[in-house]
Amino acid sequence: MLDIATIRRQFPALAQQVNQQALVYLDSAATTQKPQVVIDAITDYYSAQNANVHRGSHSLTANATSQFEAARHCVADFINAKSDKEIIWTRGATEALNLIAQTYARSTLQAGDEILIGEMEHHANIVPWQIVAEQTGATIVKAPMTPNCQLDTAAFEALLSDKTKIVALAHTTNVTGTRQPIESLITLAHQYGAVVVIDAAQGIVHEKIDVQAMDADFVVFSGHKIFAPAGIGVLYGKLSILDAMPPWHGGGKMVEKVSFSGTTFSQLPGKFEAGTPNVAGAIALAKAIDWYSQFNREHVETHIHQLVQQTYQALSQYDDVKVVGYQENASVISFIVDGVHHQDVATLLDQQGIAVRSGNHCAHPLMDALGISGTIRISFAVYNDQQDVQRLLAAINKCLDML
Ligand code: ALA
Repeated sequence: MLDIATIRRQFPALAQQVNQQALVYLDSAATTQKPQVVIDAITDYYSAQNANVHRGSHSLTANATSQFEAARHCVADFINAKSDKEIIWTRGATEALNLIAQTYARSTLQAGDEILIGEMEHHANIVPWQIVAEQTGATIVKAPMTPNCQLDTAAFEALLSDKTKIVALAHTTNVTGTRQPIESLITLAHQYGAVVVIDAAQGIVHEKIDVQAMDADFVVFSGHKIFAPAGIGVLYGKLSILDAMPPWHGGGKMVEKVSFSGTTFSQLPGKFEAGTPNVAGAIALAKAIDWYSQFNREHVETHIHQLVQQTYQALSQYDDVKVVGYQENASVISFIVDGVHHQDVATLLDQQGIAVRSGNHCAHPLMDALGISGTIRISFAVYNDQQDVQRLLAAINKCLDML
């Protein structure tokens, strides 16, 4: 089983005091803390290895290039991609979604085509599609969710038609941690010939993502939600689709030959990686994956679900607390307190050393569907323990007494 005390000791940021109290970090859905091995990987890279990649021939650049490509292979292996060429480095899930919108979507959509998007999506999986819809004359269609923030499969199916060219869905919703039934939704979308984009930013750390089994056409995620630094992310795309897509950003490394009479572009994956990439970030992401892979993922999730269920049971005792879209197998609990602004609750918790996120969580349409302006979100990761839950519940109790 998991030795949480030993795991926690590997995260230096968890050992600090905030507002004169030991930090309880319950905002891992916003970003996970980083284990020492990942921090060391970044320091080591810049201390001893720093060089540009795929440029020049000196020893440092050769070594950096080989580590950078080994990191790509590590990611391909982690999500079971068929080829390393299907892994494109981006700054994060948001940039990956914008890349798909501005290359695949912009070059294939026509006026009257439809992009079907879940109502519960994060803004990063809505706005890039709105921009490309504006550019191409395509239409955005909203697939509604049920009150527990699960996509309504029957409504989704009814909205699919030959006009549906792209379906964009979250694997796991960031506000409530709801795991969407993506397998059946992908199968349905493919029956209508739509290309499916899965935003796995929240799901990647909580489930083994197998892109071949999932059969999505594109899957995106960010490194910083799986113990790696911010500024590195992944776009997975099926090779044949990526190959046919036009490039996005122009610059060095994404070209084969440049002349003023015309330019030819690199093969995958370089075609989508203009400019000097985040080499340290890629290496650190591989290190984070390697570190996380030492744990049995089922044990990790069972541990997290126990913390979630315990928190939910305690919150359910309060008449004026309402948990939004509770899922016992989630890693997140979102709640509101009757008559109290979510920000006030989060501030009072912060004063007691408890870090949670409050607000609309970049999901205005989800908030509108629920008729609320925001929630207080508690999110757990492998390093959280019973003591964190006890501290949280005591702090909530104190806060409700004060309000
Ligand atoms: N998308 C991140 C969150 O849900 C930042 O907090």
